[in-house]
Amino acid sequence: MNAFIRQKNHTAQQSMALEDQYGAHNYHPLPVVLTRGQGAWLWDVDGKRYLDFLAAYSAVNQGHCHPRLVAVMQEQAGRLTLTSRAFHNDLLGAYEAYICDFFGYDRVLPMNTGVEAGETAIKLARKWAYEVKGVTPNKARVVFAEGNFWGRTVAAISSSTDPESYSNFGPFVPGFEVIPYNNLERLEAAISDGDTAAFMVEPIQGEAGVIIPDEGYLAGVRALCSKYQVLFIADEIQTGLGRTGAMLACDHDGVKPDILLLGKALSGGMMPVSAVLSSHEVMNTLMPGQHGSTFGGNPLACALAMEALQILKDEHLSENAKAMGDLFRSGLSAMNIPGLSNLRGKGLMSAVDVDAGILGMNARTWCERLMHAGLLCKQTHDLTVRMSPPLVLNSEQVHLALDAIKTSLT
Ligand SMILES: Cc1ncc(COP(=O)(O)O)c(C=O)c1O
Repeated sequence: MNAFIRQKNHTAQQSMALEDQYGAHNYHPLPVVLTRGQGAWLWDVDGKRYLDFLAAYSAVNQGHCHPRLVAVMQEQAGRLTLTSRAFHNDLLGAYEAYICDFFGYDRVLPMNTGVEAGETAIKLARKWAYEVKGVTPNKARVVFAEGNFWGRTVAAISSSTDPESYSNFGPFVPGFEVIPYNNLERLEAAISDGDTAAFMVEPIQGEAGVIIPDEGYLAGVRALCSKYQVLFIADEIQTGLGRTGAMLACDHDGVKPDILLLGKALSGGMMPVSAVLSSHEVMNTLMPGQHGSTFGGNPLACALAMEALQILKDEHLSENAKAMGDLFRSGLSAMNIPGLSNLRGKGLMSAVDVDAGILGMNARTWCERLMHAGLLCKQTHDLTVRMSPPLVLNSEQVHLALDAIKTSLT
């Protein structure tokens, strides 16, 4: 049994059966077992090739197994991977300086997963509210937008409006309020009370189905947060790092959040690396012992993150995301497929709604058909299919993707 399990060449059926028998059933993946990736391509265990139109939920912006990241991973893994923050390491300071300069912030707090970055931002905002803004002890509020998604911890689901995320997991974290997305009037009403520490928002809501707010929304958020001395926390964990055709989605609107959250593609998909960036004023409220993580700021993560960011710049991936996103959406829109509507997106973050009655299948079934046609996409909720390939996608691959979409419907 042990020898069988440890072997590396299980068939697809064996791999799926092992997951089914021994893993928690907290995901419902498409029935494809992947074994190799390169750029925008993935291969399954039977050698079939697919275009990846999910990019691990935007964590693989630089493409699968980017050679520069593989080289950094190999070199650093053989030298030093983890020291904890009990000691200094020779890469953390350099990485901190690099990322602060890259995004124009004073200080960074390194974490691992995206949800930890969100948790960190909320802790920072509460601390700042008590120690700088002067909010009454234990009264600080954090405001979120309906449809938000920032992970699966108890705090993250405490702000969720998706019953699938929060049902039967209560009681929830207090001090959170949820208002409609893309609604500045409601934001003003929610944050003008003097007890609000922060408004945390995605510039484009990813998991909710690529919901793009009205032009001027983020500028309005910035103005209201400044007016009421409330921290504007931008969750750019999915929208950041070139995904929407700019380094940050906030750049499209020329706004700078008080706290910027990054994750996912910060390591190019090599390992969980997240970051919270902010000002001296906010960051300096934290003292030793008040927050941390065993793995946060480890030298392997620091080396990878610097390289991952530099690749985005060197390979002009934001610009490519914009060009390829426009090409993809204009191609798909020109196909005029009955049953698909509301095609939307920015850069290489796209989504389309499925009318199952007209298309003859729901979003999940369409994703399965797309898979057979060689395109890996994932539905979000029942009616939407999101398309977010690695940003290294080229025009030939865009046309292959459009061909696969055509095939999936015939
Ligand atoms: C906008 C946003 N924030 C936070 C997260 C959580 O990131 P992680 O899964 O790395 O904890 C996600 C994950 O999809 C996300 O899309």
